[in-house]
Amino acid sequence: MSTPKLRTLFNNASIVLTDEVRKGSLLVENGEIIEIDASSSSSADVVVDCKGHHLMPGVIDDQVHFREPGLTHKEDLYCASRACAAGGITAFLEMPNTKPPAVTRDGVLAKEAIAANQSHVHYGFYIGATPDNLDELKAAENVPGIKIFIGSSTGNLLVDQQEALEKIFAETTLPICAHCEDETTVRQNAERLSGTTDIRDHSRIRDEKAAVIATTRSIDLATRHQHRFHVLHVSTAAEIPILAQQTPYITAEVCPHHLFFNVDDYERLGSRIQMNPSIKTEADNHALWKALMENTIQAIATDHAPHTLEEKARPYPDSPSGLPAVENSLALFLNQVVSGRCSISQIANCMSDAPARIWGIVGKGRIAQGYDADLVLVNLDEDRTIRDEDQITKSGWSPWHDETLTGWPVATYLNGNQVWSRADGFSPTRYGKKLQFDHSRGGYWATPDGIGPR
Ligand code: DOR
Repeated sequence: MSTPKLRTLFNNASIVLTDEVRKGSLLVENGEIIEIDASSSSSADVVVDCKGHHLMPGVIDDQVHFREPGLTHKEDLYCASRACAAGGITAFLEMPNTKPPAVTRDGVLAKEAIAANQSHVHYGFYIGATPDNLDELKAAENVPGIKIFIGSSTGNLLVDQQEALEKIFAETTLPICAHCEDETTVRQNAERLSGTTDIRDHSRIRDEKAAVIATTRSIDLATRHQHRFHVLHVSTAAEIPILAQQTPYITAEVCPHHLFFNVDDYERLGSRIQMNPSIKTEADNHALWKALMENTIQAIATDHAPHTLEEKARPYPDSPSGLPAVENSLALFLNQVVSGRCSISQIANCMSDAPARIWGIVGKGRIAQGYDADLVLVNLDEDRTIRDEDQITKSGWSPWHDETLTGWPVATYLNGNQVWSRADGFSPTRYGKKLQFDHSRGGYWATPDGIGPR
């Protein structure tokens, strides 16, 4: 006896495809998109009236720090994944600098087990590199990739010795991503400015030179070893020419804080915008935006890295680096769509399709036949003001507190199931599943037509 098929019809939607917005209906069967030009009278078990709003592919955030295990006073997988759902993020890739850090296969499995119980959205976990865990990196399977802290940040993960880096690039096969700030430069700057309590010095310590040296060094490694490599959170205009010599191996991303904050904001926001890499200048904001629009930078990620406000209130340099962003990120970019700076398809391509292709995430990233129905319905006419007290992240604050944005998620769906809506809140059922990674498909540049259906 065959199991009955569950069909959901998303009616009256502005469907966001990779190169156009098409008005119509989308038909989903057993969690998979089966028709993007469906008839509005198709038979279905559930009919969702999209009221003309834009139906986008769910956002895939490829850089988050959800702090579990070990640092759950800052954040945990339950709260963070709910914040994702309310922000239109349907899948996340989480970084290894937890406590203990995820630097073994067992460490990754332990995180997957927590997520299987807690996560409201789909998940994957990077394995972190250390100077001596090559065997673990070589044996890891079905993970997005390897994370290297070429410069140190929160936690004690660091690999900056050339010999260890050469080995990782030579002997592993998973895609690699890195935090690119040169440790030597940062230490020298910190020594020169030792004794400072001026938060603005954070951007002088973690300066442009530190970013350029580390990005150049990693791209050199990736190119020589012909290894897929993703530059995390690009922060300077000066890195863009290096990225523009595109090789088939290299991709890059930018975060909202590097696009929308700059050093002039320290006076207003203090350590709330203390980040690694540091935020830079207004000229950098503009250059990064242009690079994103020109596809020199392919993806958007948040680097959601919460600390409590008490921790943030310590005087610099004892204040930690990192800020929460998952629930505001899509709205920040929809606000750019509304103000005419880009199209909604461009945002969907950078926030959903690009991360799926970069990390070989099977069945995700775009609205197309055969893809999973991970979707977010957004209202481009809605104004909302971000408030600390409304934030779902366990840290309970946002660097965009008091900002009013136009364009917000209305409802989020995983495999066709509503997981959150502004009207109904969260579904009591959790639908988050482990993502499947297929690196044999060759990555972003090898799969221009998408990573493809299952
Ligand atoms: O400022 C940062 N904080 N940048 C990172 O990349 C990681 C992080 C954290 O984990 O707190």
